[in-house]
Amino acid sequence: MENIFDIAILGGGPAGYVAAERAGAKGLSVVIFDKRALGGVCLNEGCIPTKTLLNSAKVLEYAHEAEKYGITVGEVGIDFSKIMKRKDKVVRKLVSGIGAKMKHAKAEVVMAEAVIKEKRGSEITIEAEGKTYKAANLLICTGSEAAIPPIPGLDKSQILTNREILQLKELPKSLVIIGGGVIGTEFADFFNAMGTKITVIEMLPEILTGIDDDIAKFVRAEFTKRGIDFHLGAKVTKLNGKEVTFEKDGKEEKITGEQVLLSVGRKANVAGIGLENIGVEFTPRGVKIDKNCRTNIPNVYAAGDITGFSLLAHTASREGEVAVNHILGRKDQMRYDAIPGVVYTHPEIAGVGLTEASAKEKGIEVEIRKLPMAYAGRFVAENEGKDGFCKVIAGKKYGEILGVHMVGGACSEMIWGACALVEMQLRVKDVQEIVFPHPTVSEIIKETIFEF
Ligand code: NAI
Repeated sequence: MENIFDIAILGGGPAGYVAAERAGAKGLSVVIFDKRALGGVCLNEGCIPTKTLLNSAKVLEYAHEAEKYGITVGEVGIDFSKIMKRKDKVVRKLVSGIGAKMKHAKAEVVMAEAVIKEKRGSEITIEAEGKTYKAANLLICTGSEAAIPPIPGLDKSQILTNREILQLKELPKSLVIIGGGVIGTEFADFFNAMGTKITVIEMLPEILTGIDDDIAKFVRAEFTKRGIDFHLGAKVTKLNGKEVTFEKDGKEEKITGEQVLLSVGRKANVAGIGLENIGVEFTPRGVKIDKNCRTNIPNVYAAGDITGFSLLAHTASREGEVAVNHILGRKDQMRYDAIPGVVYTHPEIAGVGLTEASAKEKGIEVEIRKLPMAYAGRFVAENEGKDGFCKVIAGKKYGEILGVHMVGGACSEMIWGACALVEMQLRVKDVQEIVFPHPTVSEIIKETIFEF
């Protein structure tokens, strides 16, 4: 009899491979397809390579600032090729780690482009390299790719996206970044640290839309001090090779970079995977899912960037888990209120829950408290001459923690605690009774909450 997998997974990124792991651990038979590499965009051309590069930038910063801490170092320099090679090594190691996890989950891994062919009854057929695979459930997690807007003159061979920039062999002298979102800002930070002249062109009045307004302003001010140029409220209207034309205050300006990075958002990978063959409803923005991560077809699920919704690796993984739990008949559902957002710049940014602006937009009455990071002794001990702050947003009536937003230090490592406060709907007075370790930077959260 033909083998029917319990679950077929299209895409081996953080949604797909985590779902495969969880499903395998619960005894489900899994086949997982990927046309590029296990780990998806996050591991191969996103989260992991960029954080590896940003860590080199951090080490460089320590070396430059060693004197401030009473340490004398010799001449400080960079070896760009070595930095890039280390990044490749880290990626290779983690990709092979996912291979091992798939083995452990007893998942069949098919490294080929897969297309959904048909659905007979509830049985779904997938084809890859001329071979067919049948499954009782399908999880679609084919991710997203860099959006290429119809800017006149844009020649893809002349510009870089997050993919090509990670393959640069030489450090550019100058880099023009179109789009001051998360990708643009993280690359601005890294290449600025390496000595590249950076210009960021952002259409909106501020960089990092969606991040707390004060934090975005703070980071931009820090970056400006380091010599990064920003053109805000500036829309790119034309490209000619590496010459970028933009409009600002009704005037046209031009700037040419040795390299140009386009980071103006992502596009869901909905085309060419056969969604229409089984009637999965989708728009160019993505596949719509319910709280169980189901599409309009009961045994077809979708998770990650393909949903066009949250575009974060950790959301993707959680959506994958929710889908698997639903297949297993376990009670679980997706909640998006406590999903952390982190930007791994120096200083780091981390936030969860409502921002001041989103509370206002939703008409929720809140109280806000804000404290400088310097209220945490550990921050002062470890961050000579540095700054940052923590902002907590609580409901006016009940004092429930609705949002925590931080900038400075390694706040990416502290935000999960704040996620728990928001997720568990703890109140100011509940958190005041929790003992935080001393001395840690995380005490800033408690200190800020004591301001209520
Ligand atoms: P984004 O949506 O964060 O930012 C794109 C920016 O480009 C926006 O600010 C937009 O106003 C601007 N823009 C659009 N068209 C423009 C034009 N013609 N001229 C000038 N500016 C223009 O998108 P980004 O940075 O490409 O990131 C994509 C996704 O990847 C994000 O949704 C993010 O969540 C995810 N990501 C997450 C990271 C993290 O968690 N640390 C790191 C990198 C990416």
